Amino acid sequence: MKVLVIGAGGQLGRALVATAPTAHTCVALGREALDLEQDSDSITAILDSQAPEVIINAAAWTAVDAAEDEPDRAMQVNATAPGVLARWCAAHGARLIHVSTDFVFDGEAGRPYAPDSPARPLGAYGRSKWEGECRVREALGDKALIVRTAWVYGAGGRNFVRTMLRLMGTRDEVNVVADQVGAPTHTRSLARLLWQAVTKPEAGGTLHWTDAGVASWFDLAVAVYEEGRALGLLDRDVAIGPLRTVDYPTPATRPAYSVLDTTATPRVLGLAPRHWRVELREMLAEEGAMAEAGHA
Ligand SMILES: NC(=O)c1ccc[n+]([C@@H]2O[C@H](COP(=O)([O-])OP(=O)(O)OC[C@H]3O[C@@H](n4cnc5c(N)ncnc54)[C@H](OP(=O)(O)O)[C@@H]3O)[C@@H](O)[C@H]2O)c1
Repeated sequence: MKVLVIGAGGQLGRALVATAPTAHTCVALGREALDLEQDSDSITAILDSQAPEVIINAAAWTAVDAAEDEPDRAMQVNATAPGVLARWCAAHGARLIHVSTDFVFDGEAGRPYAPDSPARPLGAYGRSKWEGECRVREALGDKALIVRTAWVYGAGGRNFVRTMLRLMGTRDEVNVVADQVGAPTHTRSLARLLWQAVTKPEAGGTLHWTDAGVASWFDLAVAVYEEGRALGLLDRDVAIGPLRTVDYPTPATRPAYSVLDTTATPRVLGLAPRHWRVELREMLAEEGAMAEAGHA
């Protein structure tokens, strides 16, 4: 299969490229090679020249707070451009695997969101991602595979885990929001799932994938500290305290509870998530190896 990975410079994109099975021809396009803020003809011309059989769209406007100030740009990258990709796939018999987010939900549920739970995004980022899903479904129906995920982090990426490592390396005290609950997801675990999806051409519709278990941001910070110390990435005492969301205001409102129900995914794709703490340990080990090699 010729598989085009769009957004190859992002944290998920890099994990996809790093784990691409040799059975496929993986063509990786970062923003410099395929900018989703271009007009649709320019995007289509690049797809024509690449002629992929499968597109994995890992590109997105992910700056959740900045999207409140620039909703049109977020909408272009997260909705209009995925619509262009989907229409190209429909016209050329190609498959689209599109990545979406827990932020399409309002976080008011008391139990995990199923793939068909009603969407009600709270902010501009979530609205743009939901609109992106709609455009993809409009063009391809259930032939497109939309994978919603949450709380994504990976070695070398811009993410919460690495921010915690940095803060814990210099501060005596770190306070973290404890009343937002979700499921941390390692880029490598998500990449594994997406490559597995490439081998299942019949899989379509909307699926959820996060690592197993749930956590608050505070729980995740404590785990980063404990695992980071065990691996020798952190060597000082840090007091980690819980914060309430109201005490840490941000421009965009986040869902308070955004656990995704992933139970259908192993049935469809034949892969089950591992506990987030196991994945976190692996990410931190990779982070340590990169730091040692001077790549961090
Ligand atoms: N991060 C999370 O916590 C999270 C949670 C739920 C779902 N997701 C979804 O997971 C997917 C992967 O996210 P990620 O965590 O890997 O995000 P990321 O690290 O921010 O990567 C996104 C990539 O998209 C690229 N991009 C942005 N604007 C673009 C444009 N106009 N044209 C082409 N590329 C553009 C970015 O390029 P630059 O590096 O040049 O900006 C970046 O390489 C996205 O669909 C995201 O919505 C993420």
